[in-house]
Amino acid sequence: MRVLVTGGAGYIGSVVSAELLRAGQEVVVVDDLSTGHADAVPPGAQFHQLSIAELDPVIGDWGIDGVIHFAARSLVGESVADPAGYWRNNVVGTVALLDTLRAHAIDRIVVSSSAAAYGEPDRQPITEDAPTRPTSAYGATKLAIDLALTDYARAYGSTAVSLRYFNVAGALAVGDGGWLGERHATETHLVPNALRAAAGDGPKLQLFGTDYPTPDGTCVRDYIHVVDLAAAHQAALAVQTPGVHNVVNLGSGSGYSVRQVLDTVAEVTERPVPVDEVARRPGDPAVLVAANERAGELLGWEPSRDLRSMVADAWGCYQRYA
Ligand code: UFG
Repeated sequence: MRVLVTGGAGYIGSVVSAELLRAGQEVVVVDDLSTGHADAVPPGAQFHQLSIAELDPVIGDWGIDGVIHFAARSLVGESVADPAGYWRNNVVGTVALLDTLRAHAIDRIVVSSSAAAYGEPDRQPITEDAPTRPTSAYGATKLAIDLALTDYARAYGSTAVSLRYFNVAGALAVGDGGWLGERHATETHLVPNALRAAAGDGPKLQLFGTDYPTPDGTCVRDYIHVVDLAAAHQAALAVQTPGVHNVVNLGSGSGYSVRQVLDTVAEVTERPVPVDEVARRPGDPAVLVAANERAGELLGWEPSRDLRSMVADAWGCYQRYA
């Protein structure tokens, strides 16, 4: 299969592209490099520096069978300050992409969605039919894209799968000591920030909130290894449900507190993580854990890498490039 990967120069897109190539698929990456890195596009993928709104004149020449769509802005805090940028880029951009695919009779798409579509849940673990009440423009744009996909699939007969990620971490070793991992200019995520603090390369890790109604007072999240995530995307590309948009959570079904993650970072790096306990970060729910049965049923998928393996791989990547 020849797969178009939008956002294939980003963290998750590059890992998925590399895993698709390893599985013998052909990969065409488009990325405007607004946040991605050209050197993250795996060798063997065809690369075009384009935005998703610019594909119509060229996509017809590429022989694409299916699309995995990552290209999006993805910072929760930034989205609250700049909703216009998020709605234009994520929603208007994706609708343009869907129209391009329709015009070229490409009827198979897998889309990167997010637990942020649910917002603050009433119940744990979170099932796919839980209420969707996003608390940020980022989450709202991911939900809007999912709603559009449902309508497009129903009306135009395409097969669409939205994968709602929980907390992605880890990295992929790509040979010769190289890694594909997180390299965000603005890093907001817990694992890379904790690794940087442990390495002594940055400020202390700010621990946002110790008064949550959780066993140790810190937020609980469902962490998933980016390589497990990549396997789910490969399985989603094989789904055959013309006219139906499937929404599928990707998580492990169990949660770890921020303190548990910091303990794992200290164990793996064999260094203490310097911590500043500060106030809660606005918009952080206490607990987010995925119900992942649907991923098992529809994709035959279950995660196989634990938190320690995520932190160890992220640390390998960090040490190589820091
Ligand atoms: N945290 C810290 N210090 C940091 C970074 C994070 O204490 O420097 C805490 C957060 O408060 C949170 C936990 O660590 O409790 C995880 O935070 P992340 O920023 O790593 O991840 P989030 O759970 O906030 O975000 C994830 C995805 C988003 C998605 C969101 C859905 O990364 O894309 O879940 O709620 F929108």
